[in-house]
Amino acid sequence: MENLISLVNKLQRACTALGDHGEATSLPILWDSLPSIAVGGGQSSGKSSVLESIVGKDFLPRGSGIVTRRPLVLQLHKIYEGKEYGEFLHLPSRKFYDFVVVRKEISDETDGETGQTKQISSVPIHLSIYSPNVVNLTLVDLPGLTKVAIDGQSESIVQDIENMVRSYIQKPNCIILAISPANQDLATSDAIKMSREVDPTGERTIGVLTKIDLMDKGTDAVDILEGKSYRLKFPWVGVVNRSQQDINKRVDMTSARRREREYFSNSREYKHLASRMGSEYLAKMLSKHLEGVIKSRIPGIQSLISKTVVDLEAELSHLGKPVSTDAGGKLLVMMDICRAFDQVYKEHLEGMRSGGDQ
Ligand code: GDP
Ligand code: NA
Ligand code: MG
Repeated sequence: MENLISLVNKLQRACTALGDHGEATSLPILWDSLPSIAVGGGQSSGKSSVLESIVGKDFLPRGSGIVTRRPLVLQLHKIYEGKEYGEFLHLPSRKFYDFVVVRKEISDETDGETGQTKQISSVPIHLSIYSPNVVNLTLVDLPGLTKVAIDGQSESIVQDIENMVRSYIQKPNCIILAISPANQDLATSDAIKMSREVDPTGERTIGVLTKIDLMDKGTDAVDILEGKSYRLKFPWVGVVNRSQQDINKRVDMTSARRREREYFSNSREYKHLASRMGSEYLAKMLSKHLEGVIKSRIPGIQSLISKTVVDLEAELSHLGKPVSTDAGGKLLVMMDICRAFDQVYKEHLEGMRSGGDQ
């Protein structure tokens, strides 16, 4: 059985590739209903660091200020052989084996859309990473929430970023990865503030606490991590990412992860929580959780897909056969994916009937 997450990944890419083509009105609704994970939080709270640890690679542009100025839809695909590489939706025929070049392409694409100003754009960049070291997962990196506009930015930027983040995290099928730094009071966390607004019961928010190593001496994050300070349906996950100094010294991901593991298992305060702390745990937990959400939404997605196939068929017959146009080709791809999903859905139902654990 093809992995559910990778099928939803394909659907997401196909929806985006089709973009505004045609009259398939169910397409945007389908796109909106596909489960995803969005990363939200204040600037410099550690969002990019968390994403990079989940992927296990350095590939995101960094720096102070608003570096992430367009949403980045990041699709992780586990492969079982071969060398890992990245691929952008806007450059479909090119495989990037060098992640330094991936980072540069993200920057260039951001500047291309926003014109090297410090403005933001809600047009997403789509990046797929194929690697033996990832779990199947789709994550959306969003610009960090800020409090004031700085030089060169329009006054509306604070509100613009907030609106953009909200447009992603308000979708009922969006899992919110809410990033808060441990060295600031949780009551001032932008991530918690926004997630509470769109998910007041905390049912689809996963709280991540970064910078635990930077807390004031004599304080610890045990109350937060045990869910006593701010209760969410899911347990909080604490992480220790690389510091700026580590990055400057080029501490690699493998040693950073090892150090993170040691940090939790060797500290008196966190030892009892160590098995559910850290980036590796977070990645596995998210993948499992996303798969669960997808499974629970399959009937809804399925009926939308049937509707989309009907729409697409109508559109194809408009175009006439044989289909040779670019749009026609994309429509056919979309239909293939929809049919594949249909197949998986049926196998899933079979599995449930025979009591198997799919
Ligand atoms: P973003 O703006 O939310 O994407 O934040 P970044 O991931 O770029 O992190 C901002 C800065 O905080 C960088 O210099 C990181 O090295 C540093 N940082 C992030 N997480 C941690 C952490 O857990 N511990 C330490 N010591 N530094 C961190
Ligand atoms: Na930053
Ligand atoms: Mg960032």
